[in-house]
Amino acid sequence: MGKIIAVANQKGGVGKTTTTVNLSAALAEKGKKVLIIDIDPQGNASSGFGVDKNNEENTSYTLIMDDCTINEAIMKDVMENVDLVPSNMNLAGAEVELIDVPHRETILRNALDYVRDSYDYIFMDCPPSLNILTVNAMTAADSVLVPIQCEFYALEGLSQLIYTINMVRKRLNKSLVIEGIVMTMYDSRTNLSQQVVEDVRANSRQKVYKTMIPRNVRLAEAPSYGQPITVYDPRSAGADAYRALADEIIAG
Ligand SMILES: Nc1ncnc2c1ncn2[C@@H]1O[C@H](COP(=O)(O)OP(=O)(O)OP(=O)(O)O)[C@@H](O)[C@H]1O
Ligand SMILES: [Mg+2]
Repeated sequence: MGKIIAVANQKGGVGKTTTTVNLSAALAEKGKKVLIIDIDPQGNASSGFGVDKNNEENTSYTLIMDDCTINEAIMKDVMENVDLVPSNMNLAGAEVELIDVPHRETILRNALDYVRDSYDYIFMDCPPSLNILTVNAMTAADSVLVPIQCEFYALEGLSQLIYTINMVRKRLNKSLVIEGIVMTMYDSRTNLSQQVVEDVRANSRQKVYKTMIPRNVRLAEAPSYGQPITVYDPRSAGADAYRALADEIIAG
């Protein structure tokens, strides 16, 4: 049975999508079967695999609105071993449209029940918000993977994220845990990056992965080619880092 992981942090631009796309690709390279659910209206995980998200009839939006089934929404083989449910701006309306829908927090969980046996890992790329979409992901998930950017305000907002995770655990998903914290955009040349990592290790009681994702221009370039880093530049430091993170995730 596949492990379901929500990649979440309500802070914008911390590396959620970069981690979802490239960790998935690294796991796929190691022979794991992966499904990605893009639940961010920005659709960056979809474009990260070169998917023309505005031409897709079935997306995470139509899935959440019960206008298609999970199997209809899944695009097969966006790369070897990776399937994807794409997203686009339509999803931005979901929050308002779901207001009157009973059990609106459990829509994704119910959908994923049908497919989790077909995958080793299912990742959900969350939007930079603690809204109903993120709550849906956390309700469906076994665990939450939290990317934290190595910058001065790194820990700000973390307590709010943990509060939300605790709220979901209490009301919607008793078994939800934090998978771990992954430090992103690490720059070994700066004291700041090192200080932030020390700070996070000292102040959060969560598991912090040994692997830190370096700031690497190839990681920033890859999405414009619609390719994960393992395809765009398989020998880059960014590709190696996501492979190492994949090993840690597999080790549990
Ligand atoms: N390790 C890295 N090295 C260099 N650039 C990076 C790295 N990780 C992410 N970036 C760049 O930083 C920006 C933000 O990353 P990303 O889109 O993954 O963050 P996000 O948390 O998903 O953002 P949002 O909250 O908007 O969804 C992107 O332009 C991305 O290419
Ligand atoms: Mg993103």
